[in-house]
Amino acid sequence: MKKSMIMLLAFFTVGLSSFTLLQSKEWVVPESAKKAKNPTDKTNKEDMATGKSLYSKYCQSCHGKEGYGDGPKAKELKGKVGDFSSSEFQSQTDGALFYKVTTGRDDMPAFDKKIPDAEDRWLIINYIRALKQ
Ligand code: HEC
Repeated sequence: MKKSMIMLLAFFTVGLSSFTLLQSKEWVVPESAKKAKNPTDKTNKEDMATGKSLYSKYCQSCHGKEGYGDGPKAKELKGKVGDFSSSEFQSQTDGALFYKVTTGRDDMPAFDKKIPDAEDRWLIINYIRALKQ
């Protein structure tokens, strides 16, 4: 192989890996959204059941039953689906999670229109909290 060819390949590889890095860049949540207060009552059993059924309807296909990020659709997705059971994930505020679920990014859908009732989205956040290990 010619030297110029090798150089070209090297450039291509470096370019590709920085592209991949960019894809997994941190999802920045505005400070005000992080502080948003969860208006729901986490001790309400009926509400918890609603959160669970909404989760299995709208989220499970990608995030998996236990939130490990192993749903049937997960393999085709761009970006890190995350592991809802991890303490790193759980260290985010309710407000930050609500923001991500509401606005979406790339392959993570925005749920502001799919689940228009904000309370429903908060109930899903409550359910995600129960997936902590
Ligand atoms: C079509 C697949 C898909 C569905 C359905 C889906 N997500 Fe996601 N989700 C993703 C992907 C992909 C990411 C990573 C996005 C990124 O970082 O750019 C993500 C990221 C997230 C994150 C941020 C993870 C982190 O580490 O901070 C949260 C929270 C989340 N999803 C919650 C939900 C909830 C709640 C639902 C259901 C209402 C849902 N998702 C439905 C694909 C999906």
